[in-house]
Amino acid sequence: MTQTKRIAVIPGDGIGVDVTREATAAISAAATKHNILLDLDELPYGSEYYLRTGIGLPREERLRIGRDYDGILLGAVGDPRVPDNRTAREIVLGLRFDLDLYINLRPILLIADGLTSLKGKSVQDIQFVIFRENTEGSYGGIGGQQHAGTTSEIALGQIVATWRGTHRIIRAAFEYAEKHKLTRVCVVHKQNAIPHVYGLWLRVFRQVAQDYPNVEASEMLVDRAAMEIIRAPEQFQVIVTSNLFGDILSDLAAMIAGGLGLAASANINPETLVLCEPVHGSAPDIAGKGIANPLAACLSAALLMDNLGFPEAAVTIDNAVRAAIFSGCVTPDLGGTKTTRQVGAFVAETISK
Ligand code: NAD
Ligand code: IPM
Ligand code: MN
Repeated sequence: MTQTKRIAVIPGDGIGVDVTREATAAISAAATKHNILLDLDELPYGSEYYLRTGIGLPREERLRIGRDYDGILLGAVGDPRVPDNRTAREIVLGLRFDLDLYINLRPILLIADGLTSLKGKSVQDIQFVIFRENTEGSYGGIGGQQHAGTTSEIALGQIVATWRGTHRIIRAAFEYAEKHKLTRVCVVHKQNAIPHVYGLWLRVFRQVAQDYPNVEASEMLVDRAAMEIIRAPEQFQVIVTSNLFGDILSDLAAMIAGGLGLAASANINPETLVLCEPVHGSAPDIAGKGIANPLAACLSAALLMDNLGFPEAAVTIDNAVRAAIFSGCVTPDLGGTKTTRQVGAFVAETISK
């Protein structure tokens, strides 16, 4: 019997609540099946809680979560009633930054030919992963305004790139390639226009690449990469890029693999813990309608199992998601008529069989 793993579950806002309910059921069913002891602790943080109490997710509590849990399952955060986006900053970005979850792994895996929006492409063409740097870049909040609210207003926001931050994400991307017997890693950058930051990226990339002679290292400008992901996705195996580019490219790439309803992610610090969450947000346009696709959250639960050291449980969840897709038990975004609950129940029942 393995030691109990403690998981913090933060459903958050909007459809985050609906899809996390199904992902929790899936992970619990997989744990039972594989004799894994999981202690799931649901935490109330999110915009609703903030509007009621004035508490987003304070730093001390973020650090406590980091100490007390082995993993975190997050839904989504973002609510139009919190216009300064404080809750997402404190919960989503706060956890990534304070817990130093420097790898944002976003797999782009087409599960069935019929799910892609690309003409003539099939499952073997769309199988890559994005390694998104997750602790610096444009996201540090360093900057300020002068003459705010006037026509003289000046706004400054700094991009941060450190040797250490760049080195560890690039190293992680090459290590992943080697571990998974992949032969290509592509760094996506914008060195032509942002030379200081992406000059550092390219120098570190070229240096690290030398340690992996069996991996072909290539470099691509981000605008070209956005085009190539649509034109010829089969050329990519591992993409490594900065925080903002990774954010944008992962939504773009999700659309060639079935959309945001299927896009999962893991925020990882290999030394400490992992936070898994769907790539999508709280989707206010469909929140409360019962039609959000829970499969991205279920696939995120699979990533959580995998990163906690339970690959068989991860495969069990992945297979149940595939079964839902292949039997047409899907929500309207995938052309089906099922509700979030129905799809979630199908996944949990398939796991338990
Ligand atoms: P979104 O990802 O919430 O939604 C984009 C579009 O995709 C919407 O039309 C939505 O209905 C659809 N969609 C997303 N997930 C779906 C699912 N599971 N099933 C079916 N359809 C789905 O992006 P947005 O509308 O730009 O952002 C809404 C809020 O979410 C904002 O406040 C934003 O800041 C926040 N957000 C949070 C996270 C996160 O918590 N990690 C990620 C992205 C956006
Ligand atoms: C994501 C989201 C976040 C990001 C937002 C909510 C700050 O879009 O996880 O992709 O930009 O990283
Ligand atoms: Mn995003």
